[in-house]
Amino acid sequence: MRVLITAGPTYEPLDPVRFIGNHSTGKMGYALAEAFAAIGAEVTLISGPTSLPNPAHPSIRTQRVETADQMYVAAAAVASEADVWVFAAAVADYKPAQVAAEKIKKSGDTLTLELVKNVDIAATLGKTKRPEQFSVGFALETNNEQAHALDKLHRKNFDLVVLNSLRDAGAGFRHDTNKVTLLDAQGQTRIFEVKPKAEVAQDIVDAVLARLPREV
Ligand code: CTP
Ligand code: CA
Repeated sequence: MRVLITAGPTYEPLDPVRFIGNHSTGKMGYALAEAFAAIGAEVTLISGPTSLPNPAHPSIRTQRVETADQMYVAAAAVASEADVWVFAAAVADYKPAQVAAEKIKKSGDTLTLELVKNVDIAATLGKTKRPEQFSVGFALETNNEQAHALDKLHRKNFDLVVLNSLRDAGAGFRHDTNKVTLLDAQGQTRIFEVKPKAEVAQDIVDAVLARLPREV
């Protein structure tokens, strides 16, 4: 089984010394890489900037990127040969319209930045998904959680979506634990307890294996 995983944040440069980013640590995506490797999968881990070391497992190939555009190019290069896609990255939705060649100098009392939408990696690759391929997405929500997560499942052609609710203590960014709800394309919903990210990763691997369209 070949697995493509995106993980971590993306950094969108403003000038040579600044970027727009987010608090994703990459821990959930790295834990998923370890969990898939542990069942014998060949994993390509495409990681935005994180402070984590590359996973040591010999079946995990880690590729480092910075921007959403770079993450898309790296993911697109391996997507067609992967059996399972896992989009765990917290991709910046927008990037600066222009990247200044020199450091932006301080001037007026306010500064307005123009941002343009980034490529949606999961949705774009989702349009190319073959029936035997399986796609897992994440949804981080603060309200109407299940409805928003299901909307993402349909819009991005996911087979399974991992919902993080920021209303749950111990969930989401900056924690070693996570609390997730898994929703699948058949309308099944399963709510899990708060647990370490390694155990959440195992639950997700089990859910994928139970739903794979064919033996791989
Ligand atoms: N995703 C992606 N590329 C993007 C944005 C999101 O691949 N440019 C993926 C994420 O990795 C995740 C899923 O899409 O698996 C949902 O991400 P999320 O940020 O929750 O969804 P958005 O469509 O960006 O919606 P919003 O941020 O407005 O809730
Ligand atoms: Ca988003």
